[in-house]
Amino acid sequence: MKKQARSNPMDLSSYDIFPRIQPHFYTWMKLYGQNFLIWDGARPQIVVTEPELVKEILSNKEGAYGKMKLRGYMKKLLGDGIVMAEGEKWTKLRKLSNHAFHGESLKDMVPAMIASVEAMLETWRKYEGKEIDVCEKFRLLTSDVISRTAFGSSYMEGRKVFETMTKLCIIISRNAHKIRYFGIEKVFRSQDDIESEKLEQSLRDSVLAMIKKREHEVMSRRADNFGNDFLGSLLTVHHDADQTNRISVDDMVDECKTFYLAGHETTSTLLSWIILNLAVHMDWQEKARKEVLQLFGHENPTSEGIARLKTVSMIINETIRLYSPVLDMTRRVNSKVRLGKYEFPANVELHIPPLALHRNPEIWGEDAHLFKPERFAEGVAKATKNNPMAFLPFGYGPHTCVGLNFATNEVKIALSVILQQHKFTLSPNYVHSPIHFLTVQPQHGIQIMLHSL
Ligand code: HEM
Repeated sequence: MKKQARSNPMDLSSYDIFPRIQPHFYTWMKLYGQNFLIWDGARPQIVVTEPELVKEILSNKEGAYGKMKLRGYMKKLLGDGIVMAEGEKWTKLRKLSNHAFHGESLKDMVPAMIASVEAMLETWRKYEGKEIDVCEKFRLLTSDVISRTAFGSSYMEGRKVFETMTKLCIIISRNAHKIRYFGIEKVFRSQDDIESEKLEQSLRDSVLAMIKKREHEVMSRRADNFGNDFLGSLLTVHHDADQTNRISVDDMVDECKTFYLAGHETTSTLLSWIILNLAVHMDWQEKARKEVLQLFGHENPTSEGIARLKTVSMIINETIRLYSPVLDMTRRVNSKVRLGKYEFPANVELHIPPLALHRNPEIWGEDAHLFKPERFAEGVAKATKNNPMAFLPFGYGPHTCVGLNFATNEVKIALSVILQQHKFTLSPNYVHSPIHFLTVQPQHGIQIMLHSL
């Protein structure tokens, strides 16, 4: 179904990507209703799209729903970091990342974000009056931003990590729908098994080198503490005088891998889709530019100003509703549980696809498939008719995205500076073909014609 759905480009006027990106869920929802059972080899999975049930699962008040164990290539990519951790370990890691990506820490990151955007726009100069593909540019931008703000390095220093991750992602994508018998890799190792093991080792070596470098600065007394960024907080806890507070070297490596990946992949695709929408809807591009110029003129964006960008926020919300980068939130039933009218045994996997909820006409209206940022004019609660489960781009409950404010700030800053300097229209070469490759990506890039103001 997936192959067939992506065999042709999509009509640019259609925003309903769910039947194309998740045609199996789309088809089975029509056949079996809002919640249904599927089998992935020998693993039973329940797809849940009924808002009340989604809320119960994600808020997890009774602790009945745990994280799904990562297997295979995905485990090599992320290890056992915060995304997989549970209980005390998760609480400890979540506290660390909450501190690094919220409040004052976030305010302090604004200059670094602006510097990365300016460096990117320097490379745009030669495209004046010409066509530019923004996807690769945004991938480098978001990689640079997470490197500078969380790890005190640049994209160039983190380059090996990003390149290795991309190679692992290609292997993951290639094998996404292959069913393998349990333990088969012990008897027969495919080329991808061998390659992914090497990549995992190389990823670990690169991250360890970065950790050791920072450690060395303190040990050799060139710095008197590990620093205030995310890497610094990890090292501070790793060396905590109280042994019970410490995290291991493996934990540090897995956290770094997680934040390198989560910190750039989703945000870069979101930025790309926003640029597409603004290139198609020039009226919204003008409205957004007017707001940016009113707030900042031609000066750099400030954290106070970013919080007041109303039109830009509406455009971000509408784009992330239609092109939700995260396609699947997963949980595992810890022990027998009742959910609505169902009873599930332990170990059943639960899948929640945000796109299915983002297009529900009962909540969003008959125009659910259109790009209409004005629906968010009076906030998310009003747009969703007070149904928080209808809008899940960053999840819900205790595991809500820890990088929500970081990502939104980064997108707002990038858009503001781009709109201050450039006008853009869609290139006739653009082919509309959203596909699933870890996140929702434009298959052939996003080509725009760039005009300076
Ligand atoms: C547009 C950008 C982003 C989107 C749409 C997004 C989306 C999400 C979603 C839907 C979840 C919840 C997953 C679940 O409940 O299973 C999540 C969790 C998470 N996100 Fe993001 N994310 C974005 C950016 C970021 C950034 C920039 C970072 C890091 C700086 C980040 C780090 C994380 C982490 C660590 C978690 C796991 C939290 C936990 O389990 O406690 N994300 N994200």
